[in-house]
Amino acid sequence: MSDSAPLNLLIIGAGMYVCGRGTSGFGTILPALGELQRHGYPLGTVNLAATNPQSIVLADAQLKRLNKAMGTRLAFGRTYPDRSSGADPESYRRALAEMPSPAAAIVVVPDHLHHQVVADCLSSGLHTLVVKPLTPTVSAARELIRLRQQHGVYGAVEFHKRYDRANLKIKEILQTGQIGRPLYFLVEYSQRKSIPARTFAGWVDQTNIFQYLGVHYVDIIHFLTGARPVRAMARGQWGWLKEKGVEVYDAVHGTIDWLTHGGDHFVSYILTNWVDPESTSAMSDQRIKVIGTRGRCESDQKKRGLQLVSDENGIEDINPDFCATYLDEKARLTYKGYGIKSIHTFIKDVNAVVQGKVRPEDLESMRPSFESALAATAVVEAVNASLKNGGAWIDIAY
Ligand SMILES: NC(=O)c1ccc[n+]([C@@H]2O[C@H](COP(=O)([O-])OP(=O)(O)OC[C@H]3O[C@@H](n4cnc5c(N)ncnc54)[C@H](O)[C@@H]3O)[C@@H](O)[C@H]2O)c1
Repeated sequence: MSDSAPLNLLIIGAGMYVCGRGTSGFGTILPALGELQRHGYPLGTVNLAATNPQSIVLADAQLKRLNKAMGTRLAFGRTYPDRSSGADPESYRRALAEMPSPAAAIVVVPDHLHHQVVADCLSSGLHTLVVKPLTPTVSAARELIRLRQQHGVYGAVEFHKRYDRANLKIKEILQTGQIGRPLYFLVEYSQRKSIPARTFAGWVDQTNIFQYLGVHYVDIIHFLTGARPVRAMARGQWGWLKEKGVEVYDAVHGTIDWLTHGGDHFVSYILTNWVDPESTSAMSDQRIKVIGTRGRCESDQKKRGLQLVSDENGIEDINPDFCATYLDEKARLTYKGYGIKSIHTFIKDVNAVVQGKVRPEDLESMRPSFESALAATAVVEAVNASLKNGGAWIDIAY
């Protein structure tokens, strides 16, 4: 393996986040790869594994449309399962066996499959990026960390909010003591009701809105403060979704008790729901507030000051910072934002590891590594246990 050999990628999953399935866009993963190519960053073969050939056909069609809009020439190398065969949820294993070195995997499958699929990627010697949540339990996350170490590869979670400049600003404000010691955080995060009812109908009963959305801000609070969660409790409410036959809570409210390095406690209240009206001005409504002993800091992460009102789509609050489209000087589509940066950071980090410039251990504390995702994993596990136990406090010792 030469130092300069370009990195080969295996994308596992071909849904909304990879290629925009079920939306008017192109998702986040393919646009991020398109941006790398536009900037002349060397990429090897990009292979794709899904469960059925129809998903491959759809992803391929999306990629062709994206190339046209961006002026890029991305193409999939090998795709799994074969277009002539039937559905095969195991086809990613063949894809792993056939990956040329050096290789990394980007895993974008439903939450409950992360553990098995990531374990297989690591055991095949691939550096691996997995979309959040790492896994729903600490024991599964620990097993992945053990496999990562055993195979000497790098593992990261695609916690893109760590690259959002608003959150980086809050981190600076907290760490320089501008608002004193944190006393409590309040997070409100919700999504349009069509997301659980239609987009993820196939696997929504395997997750919940706290595990799906809330986990982002659990990780952010850990990232901002370096604090460790010590116990959590949660209540869930059934309602509109259950009436529609979707077996998932409308809302989940989690309370987490944290301990800082300095020995102080603070509390976070994370209020999440999956029944925001369709008429709301963005897919996600999200805000975070922190109250400290000497001040408070608030960030509305939906209303970023850019609003579009049109006959066709009504009022839209646009997030120019996540994975937003712009036009270059030749009117070709380009993408910018923290969603793109998060994927680029992983690919550049893996190249640095492959070239021996950095060790996976060096990245542990700097990035959303598997190790650094343990805090969020422990809270998700405790919240899920509390939901099953009538809102009891669950101690967290990880
Ligand atoms: N970071 C984020 O903000 C963000 C946003 C959306 C989704 N996600 C996460 O991404 C994951 C997938 O979400 P999505 O929105 O793309 O969902 P989706 O339902 O649109 O797509 C899931 C994909 O996984 C594929 N898949 C399932 N089992 C597979 C297997 N055995 N082998 C290969 N492919 C398999 C399906 O074919 C499908 O293409 C979830 O864990 C979700 O939490 C993260």
